[in-house]
Amino acid sequence: MKKVAVIGHPISHSLSPKLHNYWIKKYGIDAHYEAIDVEPKDLRNTIKRMQKEGYVGCNVTIPHKEAMLDIVDKVYHVAKSIGAINIIVFKDGKICGDNTDSDGFLSNIVNNMCDYEIIKKALVIGAGGAALAVCHALFENESNILLTNRTRDRAEKLAEDFSKDVYGKLLDENLRKVKVIDWNEKEKYLSDIDLLVNTTSLGMVGMPPLDIDLSNLNKDALVTDIVYKPLITPLLAQAEAQGNPIVDGLGMLLYQAQASFAIWFGIAPEVNQELRDYILKNME
Ligand code: ATR
Repeated sequence: MKKVAVIGHPISHSLSPKLHNYWIKKYGIDAHYEAIDVEPKDLRNTIKRMQKEGYVGCNVTIPHKEAMLDIVDKVYHVAKSIGAINIIVFKDGKICGDNTDSDGFLSNIVNNMCDYEIIKKALVIGAGGAALAVCHALFENESNILLTNRTRDRAEKLAEDFSKDVYGKLLDENLRKVKVIDWNEKEKYLSDIDLLVNTTSLGMVGMPPLDIDLSNLNKDALVTDIVYKPLITPLLAQAEAQGNPIVDGLGMLLYQAQASFAIWFGIAPEVNQELRDYILKNME
């Protein structure tokens, strides 16, 4: 039987085992996906042990996504540019790290709503790990990105990561695709964007909502949230109430998992309503 897993700390609330085991059963694969709680001090030993025990690979979640970069033998392009690993494949005696979060964000939008090319200008709220994956997807799409974060320095740092030439030199201001705007001025830019994304934890169960007034928002702009608990966050509810198209954040989880599954098993499993309902039931 093939073995796959998700490693993180804490890990008991992860939906990944439910999701992957659902697909494993559906596609008749002789495999099992488990959740393994790994403390940071045990990360290297655990990965080596999994490699020795013949695991196909694993997903990597908080707090190990960055630390994993120092452990793997090979880092693929997307993980390198995001600076975080969310999937490991044990291949040809090597530990290989990649990242499917960016793909997950992109697939969620494309499969639910629109042609990605329509997104010429996006406003990304937040500058943490999730923002990096979202910005990577938008940057590859050649979208212009406005970035805002409560802690402005963090947004400046992220914007710089996307503003270098091939020699690592900072591009002139007018050539940069990612521009930082002030946290208190984000409403001013809403009339001019095609996509609004919340990548912060605001709006999640137990957190305050994102404080933003969308009345100035371009009426065709798509609004999406990486938070999926609740499925319709206060941000999405506000956008929906004024007639803007919305895409919830559950899809990003499902599509990053789809990409992981395809890497390990060579099958891109279906993401459909039945699966969404099954996962939503397990979230209650
Ligand atoms: P992740 O890897 O999930 O993105 P993270 O790196 O901790 O998590 O980032 C969380 C994001 O949510 C950050 O942009 C953070 O803003 P700061 O950089 O200012 O901390 C944002 N965030 C969390 N709580 C917030 C709050 N109460 N108000 C505004 N932003 C908040």
